[in-house]
Amino acid sequence: MVPPAPSPAAAPLLRYPHRHLLGIEGLSPAEITWLLDLAESHVDQNRRPDKKLATLRGRTVMNLFFESSTRTRTSFELAGKLLGADVINMQVEGSSIKKGETLIDTAMTLNAMRPDMLVVRHDSSGAIALLAQKVDCSVLNAGDGSHEHPTQALLDALTIRRRKGRLAGLTVAICGDILHSRVARSNIQLLNTMGAMVRVVAPPTLLPREVERLGVEVHHDMHAGLEGCDIVMMLRLQAERMQGAFVPSLREYFRFWGLDAEKLAAAKPDALVLHPGPMNRGVEIDTDVADDIDRSAITEQVEMGVAVRMACLEALTQPYP
Ligand code: NCD
Repeated sequence: MVPPAPSPAAAPLLRYPHRHLLGIEGLSPAEITWLLDLAESHVDQNRRPDKKLATLRGRTVMNLFFESSTRTRTSFELAGKLLGADVINMQVEGSSIKKGETLIDTAMTLNAMRPDMLVVRHDSSGAIALLAQKVDCSVLNAGDGSHEHPTQALLDALTIRRRKGRLAGLTVAICGDILHSRVARSNIQLLNTMGAMVRVVAPPTLLPREVERLGVEVHHDMHAGLEGCDIVMMLRLQAERMQGAFVPSLREYFRFWGLDAEKLAAAKPDALVLHPGPMNRGVEIDTDVADDIDRSAITEQVEMGVAVRMACLEALTQPYP
């Protein structure tokens, strides 16, 4: 008897099937796993003294950051260089944007120089998807407004998977300024897609309306929200996106919402603490927790960021169907 053909869902993914990486929304579990597996293969390689590869030799990656960034921009630059690509950092300060050029005109100018990839960060949600429609090369979203930050969610997932061995079935509490956070949105998408249970823990003023529709459990109390969870993901209070007062005072915010040893005690004894950085110590997280090498994986997240961004750059330079 002829065995039945494998279902499409069971077929292994041979390559990343999209031209761009604009968000986690729309990626399948197989696509996410494929990116994480590829990233995993770079972790040990990056720890060797002789770590440079030639996979992207001859390719040009342009970093175009309209919003300030330390770790994400450096991480993309290093990832590109480790793969042998030529990486160009566009300094937006002092560029034509400051002289009144529009986002699209800048993109078209850069596009005419025939880069293979544009890595873009912008303070408006949706701006990068718009830009992607206008250029010939692949576009990678390095954070757009409060919408998505896909490589952050992937690096968080890689950190969790390495420490816990899986994503499915874990309970993850995402705490703090969910309203303004693209990190939260991408993580909710990814964790739900991969079968984790997601809780959001925040004061009502820092939650988007109808947040339950994202498929999360909502808590307005840190003790209840952290009870029995495997992962505690803290978020920065994003003052730059706030118009008006969202919290009474920073001291009060820390008292009710800041992660300290006492609140962390509600989580599982081996619960892992994450934070995307930059951290406001004493506002959303206590220094003792942030620096506790047994509980906090914050430095490891930064390391995983390079491996994940290498995987994403490679994925987007493969020919897509
Ligand atoms: C995040 C960002 O820019 O969205 N940081 C980062 O990429 N490392 C989170 C933040 O700024 O709070």
